[in-house]
Amino acid sequence: MINHTPIADTYQRRFTYLRLSVTDRCNFRCNYCLPDGYCADSQEDYLSLEEIKKVVEAFALNGTRKVRITGGEPTLRKDLVEIIHLCKSTPGIESVALTSNGYKITRLLPRLVEAGLDQLNLSADSLRAENFKLITGHDKLQEVLHGLTLATELGVKRVKLNVVLMREHNLEELSAFVHFVKNKPITLRFIELMQTGDNREFYQAQHVGGSEIQEQLEKTGWSQVLREPHAGPAVEYTHTNYQGNVGLIMPYSKNFCQSCNRLRISARGNLHLCLFAEDHHKLRPHLLNESSRELAKRIKTLLGYKGEAHDLHQGNSGSTKHLAMLGG
Ligand code: 5AD
Ligand code: SF4
Repeated sequence: MINHTPIADTYQRRFTYLRLSVTDRCNFRCNYCLPDGYCADSQEDYLSLEEIKKVVEAFALNGTRKVRITGGEPTLRKDLVEIIHLCKSTPGIESVALTSNGYKITRLLPRLVEAGLDQLNLSADSLRAENFKLITGHDKLQEVLHGLTLATELGVKRVKLNVVLMREHNLEELSAFVHFVKNKPITLRFIELMQTGDNREFYQAQHVGGSEIQEQLEKTGWSQVLREPHAGPAVEYTHTNYQGNVGLIMPYSKNFCQSCNRLRISARGNLHLCLFAEDHHKLRPHLLNESSRELAKRIKTLLGYKGEAHDLHQGNSGSTKHLAMLGG
């Protein structure tokens, strides 16, 4: 039986959303994440389809309704279509999302949609091809933009464009990004640059506070949308003259963690109670010898250890060296 009341932690937050990383490998070299490219310092022993199935079933039993597949870059998994299909066919899972850098999304997308993909997030930290290449190491802007258009044409229910604003690399493109969604059914999502173990100096030089972006939006006629109680920590804006919305992820804002509704599983099966926690919990030894019900119970117990808030304000990013480790 599916639990219709999602599991809660000791701070009465309910967890309906699983972010499941399926690889930590990435083929991009984003300047804030993997500036020197992916470095294989451990084996590529990622969770198998069978293990993923058990994880998703256990989360669904605990009231998870939405699964987002993340990486690294998830399209590097040869069995991504099967992963999407198995998530979508798990009883209790209502929506399946994917976050990708978009480098080969157009070729894959029809099969992903057929397998049940409901939501797609792609990233473009610049709308100028040469700047996109400087930031990511790849000349792939056109592919990403084409992917966004194709996703809306193929009926993907929610399509988002993720943007990390950086003071010296793309802040001057802020209004160009906003203009981009004027006539498109796409949500633009500004993600505030987060400090991780590896990007300390970069962060200090490039971080742009979310309130600066909010001010800019409010000055130009955007108004904040009231969100449902368990809709997660994003702040969303609309504008009567724009078809698309603008969302902001502001992890440094006050009370950000109060609306946390998500848990994370790494590509090797570790449960991370917070993106910036110091430790994690190994589920892998239990995946193939426990039933999904037993695993669900185990996860519920571990949730009791979830802290009230991250410690990013103190410059403490836990054990997260870069977000490719866990998919953001
Ligand atoms: N701070 C903010 N966003 C980041 N991302 C990766 N690393 C960081 C960081 N340090 C973003 C990517 C992608 C999403 C999964 O997370 O650009 O849009
Ligand atoms: Fe860029 Fe995402 Fe790859 Fe990191 S994991 S290098 S943010 S595409």
